Amino acid sequence: MQFVRLSEYARGMSGVFDLLIKNGTVVSGSGRKQCDIAIRRGKIVAVGSFQPADAAEVIEASHLHVLPGVIDTQVHFREPGMEHKEDIESGTRAAVCGGVTTIFEMPNTKPATTTAEALRDKLDRASGRAWCHYAFFVGACAENIEQLDQLEQLPGTPGIKLFMGSSTGSLLVEQTDLVREVMKHGKRPMPVHSEDEARLRDRWHLVENGAHPREHFVWRDAETARMNTERLLQLVHETRRPTHVLHISTAEELPLLKEAKRNRLPVTCEVTPNHLTFNEEDYERIGSKVQMNPPVRTESTRLALWHAVKQGLFDVIGSDHAPHTEEEKAKPYPQSPSGMPGVQTLLPVMLDWFARGEIELEKVVQLTSENPAKLYQIKDKGFISPGMDADLVLVDLKGKQDVTRDWLESKCGWSPLEGRTLQGKITHTLVKGKAIVSDSTLVGEPSGEMVRFEGKDNELS
Ligand code: DOR
Repeated sequence: MQFVRLSEYARGMSGVFDLLIKNGTVVSGSGRKQCDIAIRRGKIVAVGSFQPADAAEVIEASHLHVLPGVIDTQVHFREPGMEHKEDIESGTRAAVCGGVTTIFEMPNTKPATTTAEALRDKLDRASGRAWCHYAFFVGACAENIEQLDQLEQLPGTPGIKLFMGSSTGSLLVEQTDLVREVMKHGKRPMPVHSEDEARLRDRWHLVENGAHPREHFVWRDAETARMNTERLLQLVHETRRPTHVLHISTAEELPLLKEAKRNRLPVTCEVTPNHLTFNEEDYERIGSKVQMNPPVRTESTRLALWHAVKQGLFDVIGSDHAPHTEEEKAKPYPQSPSGMPGVQTLLPVMLDWFARGEIELEKVVQLTSENPAKLYQIKDKGFISPGMDADLVLVDLKGKQDVTRDWLESKCGWSPLEGRTLQGKITHTLVKGKAIVSDSTLVGEPSGEMVRFEGKDNELS
């Protein structure tokens, strides 16, 4: 983090800050320090010590911690095609209420985002309706493999998402030869859903005629994830394509990932708050509401994932926000769809784990802001320093957040955490210097913008 008294940039225009965040404890991946943040025209112009008289508006933050806004690189917002569960407006509203200022949305909508036209349609839909900044992944499929190099370079997409195991929707590329071709077409980091589809088919009989939701992790067992991740890493070795393995859910994948990183393969990996928070007992508590792909598993798995967090294996925490209605979730397993909401609770849950002593605040900032920004080469986000966008979240670590339906903004209306009280409370979310959440209340209007990336054309024609 850069601490300066008044950057040259700011000195030229002193007395004209739009906003000063005064005396907050500013947290970065490498430390924290009490200081002021000066904001002008949506940008952080200086971090240091300034006179309140120099700013049009001041937020007194001496009792608050100031973090870079969360960049949640794995959400499903259901628009177009399934807007009864969520849409871009409601999903981004839930995001900002949870301190998330940027989202990357997944391509398994209806239609799936597999063409330039479908991407453009999502960007048009988001414009003027999104409460936070946005970009949309393009999904790999057999039909678009030859165009993936061009598609990943389009404005408004972080790149290509690959489903190797099927989940909600029809996106799937499972054969090794096709996956290899996908990996050869493009160079940007590619997030992958890693479960072995053939094994899922072979074991479907275990649950096909009805079962308790706890059988979900018996059907989609650890071997299903392990063997696929092994195959995927072999392909990374062959193709050298930067690959980001999403929602790691097993202890068995951890040594594979560790080894791949040790061998300097271009591999990164992600874990969700769900896999760090829930275990087999939650299937008894809330049944198919905790059903997701890849599944929540045993307590010993959950602890192994935490061990890996502490060892520094994971690069990113993403929510995998995947809302379905309560009616859909109430269908008998396995007709109940997989996925649960989480974009609004990502940061509150991690603050609660911080309060319990499981993770440092600095580490939370690394995993939820700095590393996503670095991994996907996002322009001007993820860090609190001059020149960066003023996307910030202010938290009261002494406050508490009750997870109630009143507080939840997702259209699906429920959360697997309902009834819990989480330690830590989000008081303000700033999107490009504007307080969209103030005193824990949603204010203002949707002002999210399309995310820009280093090294590519960011202009929509
Ligand atoms: O459980 C899941 N639900 N996992 C996924 O990969 C997709 C998601 C969804 O879109 O519902």
